[in-house]
Amino acid sequence: MKISVIGTGYVGLTTGICLAEMGHEVLCMDVDEQKIANLRQGKIPIYEPGLEELLSKNNLTFSTNIQEAIEFGEVVFSAVGTPMGQDHKADLKYVKAVAKSFGKHAKDYKVFVNKSTVPVGTAEICRKIIKEQTDQKFDIVSNPEFLREGTAVQDTLHPDRIVLGTDSEKAKEKLTELYQQNKEKILFTDIKSAEIIKYSSNAFLATKISFINEIANFCEKTGGNIEDIAKGMGLDSRISNKFLRAGIGYGGSCFPKDVQALIETGKEHDYSFEIIQATEKVNLKQKSLLFHKLRKHISDLNGKTIALLGLAFKPHTDDMREAPSLTIAKLLAEEGAKIQAYDPASKHPLNNCTSAEEATQNADAVLLITEWPEFQELDWSKIASTMKTPLVLDGRNFLKNIPEKFTYESIGK
Ligand code: NAD
Ligand code: UDX
Repeated sequence: MKISVIGTGYVGLTTGICLAEMGHEVLCMDVDEQKIANLRQGKIPIYEPGLEELLSKNNLTFSTNIQEAIEFGEVVFSAVGTPMGQDHKADLKYVKAVAKSFGKHAKDYKVFVNKSTVPVGTAEICRKIIKEQTDQKFDIVSNPEFLREGTAVQDTLHPDRIVLGTDSEKAKEKLTELYQQNKEKILFTDIKSAEIIKYSSNAFLATKISFINEIANFCEKTGGNIEDIAKGMGLDSRISNKFLRAGIGYGGSCFPKDVQALIETGKEHDYSFEIIQATEKVNLKQKSLLFHKLRKHISDLNGKTIALLGLAFKPHTDDMREAPSLTIAKLLAEEGAKIQAYDPASKHPLNNCTSAEEATQNADAVLLITEWPEFQELDWSKIASTMKTPLVLDGRNFLKNIPEKFTYESIGK
């Protein structure tokens, strides 16, 4: 099938390349000329394992021309960003712009598929915008995306489920053909349910994390080991062991903004989400936990050198959006501490060292922020000899076999 994908971020690019891998003819479009220029040369603008290799195997067309993009596909995916606005609501300006362009340039029947995470009712807003531009027949599908950064390719080629919200039999047939290889994973719903499934899934997972973090904080007062507790809970298949890793809170481009957007959509409909508000509140507190632990060891941080291992919001990505490292770095800077940070992928200015060894040199303490596997391979005896004080605070309960000479603390133990 001929498919257009508007927006070549984590979601759009992964979707486009994976659809090409599935045998479709794909055009990816973005307003960012630099991104498109790089993509035309086979260069991926993000860190996403496996994506560049997959691009090199497939023939995709890249464009910055919206008219060409809309005219190309019989199915047009919109995968533009829906960032958090000042009011904490999802900002729909990019989605609305794509809908307007779709209406303007669709010359024959096409299906408009929204992949961005959008509040319930957005498909109807898009439908109205498109109808203002054209009398051409079209259908709308809400197809929320569930991929995780770092495993985006795997998640897209082998998804747990493909949610398709639509009121059109014709669109159902088209999308079933498009997702032929995973058709047993399709769940058809009405449009509003599909839109809500995305937010409720992310809010539920975020709630699981805040829940286990609260139990971890409780353990620090009572005794008990959060890892054994999570294991014991997770053995109950109704609970499952997934998303029960205690730590320094969730970050990323989705959970923080989606949790807040759902709370705001609730307010618009005169509904107050009590549990989800608590999820958000617990997470905000958790993000500064490691800093407060550090302060118990070093009361005056002014002039002290603090090593941060990992900066990205999770391993296997360069994404720094809403990363706990940003909260911690801000608090450290406010206290006058010197930060030496190393992350294997982040391009953020905070990433001022080229190795963990360099970051820990002369450090008064090490904070493990992101659980990159390479940090488990470090020679901690060697590191101890280059640090001022052998203090390690592990924000992800990740490090193993830290030598006795270190003061080592983790979360919820
Ligand atoms: P992103 O910011 O990485 O990419 C969005 C892209 O859209 C950018 O390249 C931008 O230049 C482009 N764009 C903006 N306006 C455009 C326009 N009018 N025409 C063409 N291109 C335009 O965003 P992302 O992380 O890929 O997220 C996209 C959507 O998917 C969001 O709604 C997000 O919530 C959702 N989502 C993201 C993830 C994730 O892990 N990143 C997972 C699931 C869902
Ligand atoms: C998330 C959703 O998982 C995905 O389905 C959605 O499409 C986009 O948002 P992502 O943000 O890429 O994906 O990462 P994820 O692996 O879900 O982790 C999110 C955050 O939660 C990270 O900061 C991670 O460190 C944290 N986390 C995750 C925990 O603190 N504990 C856990 O047990 C799991």
